[in-house]
Amino acid sequence: MKKVLIVGSGGREYAIGYFLKDEAEVFYAPGNGATEDFATNIDIKDFEELANWAKENNIDLTIVGPEDPLVKGIVDVFKSKGLTIFGPSKKAAKLEGSKVYMKNFLKKYNIPTAKYIETSNKKEAYEFIDKMDKLPIVIKADGLCAGKGVIIAESKEEAKEVVDNMLSGKMFGEAGKRVIIEEFLDGYELSMFAICDGKDFVLLPAAQDHKRLLDGDKGPNTGGMGAYAPTPLATPEIYEKVKEKIIKPTLEGMQKENAPYEGVLFLGLMIVDNEPYVLEYNVRFGDPECEELMPLIDSSLYDMFYYGAKGELDKIDVKIKPMTAVGVVCASKNYPYGKSEAAEIKIDDLRECNGYIAYAGVSKKDNKLYATGGRVLVCVGFGENVKKAREEAYKIVDKVHFDGKKYRKDIAYQALKDE
Ligand SMILES: Nc1ncnc2c1ncn2[C@@H]1O[C@H](COP(=O)(O)OP(=O)(O)O)[C@@H](O)[C@H]1O
Ligand SMILES: [Mg+2]
Repeated sequence: MKKVLIVGSGGREYAIGYFLKDEAEVFYAPGNGATEDFATNIDIKDFEELANWAKENNIDLTIVGPEDPLVKGIVDVFKSKGLTIFGPSKKAAKLEGSKVYMKNFLKKYNIPTAKYIETSNKKEAYEFIDKMDKLPIVIKADGLCAGKGVIIAESKEEAKEVVDNMLSGKMFGEAGKRVIIEEFLDGYELSMFAICDGKDFVLLPAAQDHKRLLDGDKGPNTGGMGAYAPTPLATPEIYEKVKEKIIKPTLEGMQKENAPYEGVLFLGLMIVDNEPYVLEYNVRFGDPECEELMPLIDSSLYDMFYYGAKGELDKIDVKIKPMTAVGVVCASKNYPYGKSEAAEIKIDDLRECNGYIAYAGVSKKDNKLYATGGRVLVCVGFGENVKKAREEAYKIVDKVHFDGKKYRKDIAYQALKDE
């Protein structure tokens, strides 16, 4: 059997391994309390050491889940030792690691995006803000800010204050010392994921996520409280435009920049008047979108990642199931404000449910599973349409018990509005 190493510990990584486990022996670095059930958790953090371990243990393929190790260059370390690893190089990962790099790249290759300036100069920032003729104004810190680096300012005064706080380092430290100031795009958001091998790509079904904590998109931002895919909001015409106007020029551009893009290209899109604009790139799967996408793959998941890593995607045909998946995150009591006390997780019989649970912030002790993280697990339901998949997802939610469990009750509402 093939051997796969998955780097990461969240629900995203759980889902990748869960759907690979029939094709490969799965290892995690570090994994979580539930990945132990079907895989082996390894506790090595250092990239060099981990690569040596992968070599000694004849790992055929390594898949990297989160952006942090990618931006820090894990792929380069593994490749320098002759290992096969799926993910972008440190250079290519700058598409997510630096919003300034990303915006300048989009502009250089004529890929549709919001009009902007990048600056580290307060005077220049103020002048641009004064000239803007529409509100709100979007301010983005250059570096990684764990999903908190974007502020939508409702007035010019607020925009200037945000710029001050970022440039002075007060708000995000080094990450905010360069900023993007850009126009607000008014439309609806989609996430699309392309498996890329440097030259070719496979575009997966579009997803929508739910970043806010509370129903009706209220409350603070979170890592994501749920997602579903495919979304009927992405029409065949939109898929076509995304391929031609965004993904192809991105791959060509990255080749020209000597940073061919390999790995998951995550497009954060705003659709305005039926035209897609890039809000941002991420260099990995979304979490919880990955939890819905993995079960939709109807061909070998191992091959998709392996041939992606080898630059040979043209050799395979990735098939997609005609099915919808809806994922509802169950989070712990104090999420996203702070830590919660560990709570034992009990799950009722799931045989009647069509779907699965992707475990994230969980630990195991004395053979019992405990909720120890913010986002604890994702209940993913399957169905022939959004409505059915959503029913299944909430059926699973009802079978999950732990103290402080909270979740949104309106996941996928965008797709059901017109039904
Ligand atoms: N130009 C824009 N117009 C409208 N909304 C935006 C714009 N840029 C960002 N946003 C909103 O802010 C969110 C976060 O921005 P994004 O660029 O995805 O950064 P990050 O995910 O790194 O925080 C987006 O999901 C979108 O809702
Ligand atoms: Mg984003």
